[in-house]
Amino acid sequence: MYSVISVTKIAPGISRLEVEAPLIAKKRKPGNFVIVMPSEKGERIPLTIVESDEQRGTITLIVQAIGKTTHIINNMVAGDSFTDVVGPLGEPTPVDNVGTVVCVGGGVGTAVIYPMAKALKEAGNRVIGIIGSKNREMIILEDEMRQCTDELYITTDDGSYGLKGFVTDALRLVIEENESIQSVYTTGPLPMMKAVAELTRKSNVHTLASLNPIMMDGTGMCGACRVIVDDELKFTCVDGPEFDAHKVNFDELILRNKTYFDQERKAMDSYREFCKARGAYV
Ligand SMILES: Cc1cc2nc3c(=O)[nH]c(=O)nc-3n(C[C@H](O)[C@H](O)[C@H](O)COP(=O)(O)OP(=O)(O)OC[C@H]3O[C@@H](n4cnc5c(N)ncnc54)[C@H](O)[C@@H]3O)c2cc1C
Ligand code: FES
Repeated sequence: MYSVISVTKIAPGISRLEVEAPLIAKKRKPGNFVIVMPSEKGERIPLTIVESDEQRGTITLIVQAIGKTTHIINNMVAGDSFTDVVGPLGEPTPVDNVGTVVCVGGGVGTAVIYPMAKALKEAGNRVIGIIGSKNREMIILEDEMRQCTDELYITTDDGSYGLKGFVTDALRLVIEENESIQSVYTTGPLPMMKAVAELTRKSNVHTLASLNPIMMDGTGMCGACRVIVDDELKFTCVDGPEFDAHKVNFDELILRNKTYFDQERKAMDSYREFCKARGAYV
């Protein structure tokens, strides 16, 4: 059992959990993720390891409630426990000192981009951060991103904070003003990563996207997470999660992520009914 040490609500529907997992905390590198199972009969879902503390033997996860399993995790409290936490999984982010890099996170994708930005800064790079969300209250990890970036741009769709617009609007300006960008790292909703890739392709800036397909085992056995990269079949859990964004077939991945839409909706509806019957609302 993996005990939940603390839970903090950091935005509407988004929680930060500190979870006891000493072996994972010891081995984890930036870019790694875990597959968690909140209960014995629950499903397995992938979550990025945002931070780890080897001394305390804990890892930090940040979860946005979008379907049944992420709602269950969001409703956890200190003292609860996960039935299973498997990891660290995935290839770590390649962290070299290359000069100037830009880290672009959209929505809860900021939780995935933050450990990468931190590691790139520690490696000596000049790091420009861009984080975006639909409005001010949904911006997460602003202080943490300020600490590990040389410049930080914030965008909101409704203009309630930072620049009004999308992260790609800020990225366009950053690329225009900085000739020396060596790499862009991005993660967020798939359409956003696709838009980032289209933008940087035009400027010929190398771009790595951390992909978020459906996953099950996380060990390359089930094939759920397959993606097409450079016309080749790859498994995101073992070959990724980061790939050259200019070579990813985003349209195919967007379609694949809708495969279980009906089942996901039914699972969420029945979970909502289950909560309602107990006087709790989700
Ligand atoms: C390597 C990796 C790291 C991730 N890290 C994080 C993280 O740190 N924090 C976090 O909140 N989420 C993260 N995700 C996404 C997270 O795993 C999904 O949100 C989760 O599996 C959804 O489960 P659910 O049962 O709550 O929703 P479901 O019922 O499975 O899905 C509900 C809705 O979300 C869509 N969806 C399903 N899977 C995904 C997905 N992988 N990404 C985006 N939309 C999806 C579905 O199409 C559906 O519309 C990560 C995904 C991957 C692959
Ligand atoms: S999640 Fe099963 S092969 Fe990647």
